[in-house]
Amino acid sequence: MLTPNLTINAEGHLCIGGADTVTLAKTHGTPLYVMDENMIRENCRGFARVIREEYGGRGMICYASKALSCKELYRIVDSEGLGADVVSGGELYTALQAGMSAEKIVMHGNSKTNTELQMAVSRGVGRIVCDNLPELKRLDQIAGEAGKTVSVMLRIKPGIDAHTHDFVKTGQIDSKFGFALETGEAKQAVLAASLCPNLKLVGLHCHIGSQILDTEPFAEAARVMLRFMAEMRNELHVTLPELNLGGGPGIRYTEEDDPKSFSEIVRVMLAAIKVSCAELDYPQPFLLFEPGRSIVGGAGVTLYTVMAKKTIPDIRTYVLVDGGMCDNPRYALYHSRYEAMIANKADQPRDEQVTIGGKCCESGDLIGEDMPLQAAEEGDTLAVLATGAYNYSMAMIYNRNPRPEMLMVKDGEARTVIKRETYADIIRNDI
Ligand code: LLP
Repeated sequence: MLTPNLTINAEGHLCIGGADTVTLAKTHGTPLYVMDENMIRENCRGFARVIREEYGGRGMICYASKALSCKELYRIVDSEGLGADVVSGGELYTALQAGMSAEKIVMHGNSKTNTELQMAVSRGVGRIVCDNLPELKRLDQIAGEAGKTVSVMLRIKPGIDAHTHDFVKTGQIDSKFGFALETGEAKQAVLAASLCPNLKLVGLHCHIGSQILDTEPFAEAARVMLRFMAEMRNELHVTLPELNLGGGPGIRYTEEDDPKSFSEIVRVMLAAIKVSCAELDYPQPFLLFEPGRSIVGGAGVTLYTVMAKKTIPDIRTYVLVDGGMCDNPRYALYHSRYEAMIANKADQPRDEQVTIGGKCCESGDLIGEDMPLQAAEEGDTLAVLATGAYNYSMAMIYNRNPRPEMLMVKDGEARTVIKRETYADIIRNDI
C-alpha cells in the first residue's frame, strides 16, 4: 500500500486508520475527505523528535496550515506542541478560533493587507515574516499605532533551484516572494528592518519550494542563509538569533515516488547548520521549520462514487465520479499524479487503465489520466490516495458544487470535522 495507514479488510474493502472506507462513503455520502488522526500526530512527533534529539530542542515546528486549514487541524497540531504557519487573515482567524496561542503563530504572505497586519499585531502573533519594503514600513507604522514592538523575520530568496514543479518553486530570483540576495535587496531589507523603531528583527526566512524529494536543497538553503547571516553580522553588526527554513518535504503520491523521509531531511539540514555555524563562527540559531504537505498529505484519502464508465474505442476509458477539480484541483493546476483504487474491490488487481473524470463542465476536470484501476462499475466507491494536503484547502465551488464533508478517523472511529456544504451555504452571501 502507498502509505502504512491503508489496509484491506476481510471483505476486500480499503480501510484507512482502521475504518472501512466503503462504510464511511455509504454513511456520510460522497465526495468525502477522510483523514487519519494517528498518522497526522505521528508525523508531528517525527519532526519534533529530530529537533529534540539532534538540536537540543532549539527549534519549533510550525505546521504550514495552507496544506489543510480547519479548526480541528490546529487543535491537533497544537496539542502535539507544534506552532502554525498562517498565510492570510482567514487562516489566522481559524487558528485563533481553534484556541491556538498567537505566540506560536508565524504570519506569512507576500501581499498582506493592512487589515491582516493589524489583526496579527493586535492579536500578538509571535512572528511576522515580511516580504517587501512597503510592507515593512506599513507594519512598523501599525505596530507603532498599537504601541507594540513586533518580532519580524525577513523572507529571503536564497537562489536555489529545488527541482520541483515551476508553480511551487519559490526560492529562485525570478519569484514574487521575498528579497533577493544577488541584487543587494536582502541586505537593504536587513538594514531597513533594524532601523524600524517598532519592529524587532529576530531572524531570516526562506522557503525553496514544495514536494522536494531530496535532502540536498535543504542543506544548501541552510548554508546560503547562514553565509548571509554572517555577512550581515560582519557588515552591519546585526547578529540574528533565528533561522526559518520554510517547508517543502515531498510525499509519496505514486508507487514510483521515493521521497527522502522528513527525519532524514531535518537531520541533513541540522548537520549543515552546525557545520556552517562552526565555519563562520556564528551562534547556532533557533530553528523554525514549516512542513505542511508531509504532515497531512499521506494521511488523507478522498472517496467518490462512480457515476458512469465511458469507453471510447481505441482512445481511452473514462471513469466519471461525483467530484473532481472542485475538491482536488491539483491535476488541473499541476498535472499532479495520484494512485486510485476501487475501495470495494481493493483486493482485486488494478488491471484496467482509465482516465478519471470529474463532474465539472470543463474538459480539464480530471483526477488523472491512464491510471491503473480495478474494473469500475456504476455505484462503486473510488478512493484517491494521499489527498490530505492542498485538496480541501484549494477546493472551490465552481458550477456551484458544494464542498465535501471531512471526517477524522482515529482508531477505526470516524467523526465529522468539516460539515458538508449545503446549497443554502452556497447562496448565503447572494443578495
Ligand atoms: N512555508 C512557506 C513560506 C510556504 O510558502 C509553504 C508552501 C510552506 C511553508 C509549506 O510547504 P510544504 O511543506 O507543504 O511543501 N498548492 C501547491 C503547494 C503550494 C505550496 C506553497 N507554499 C500544491 O498543491 O502542490
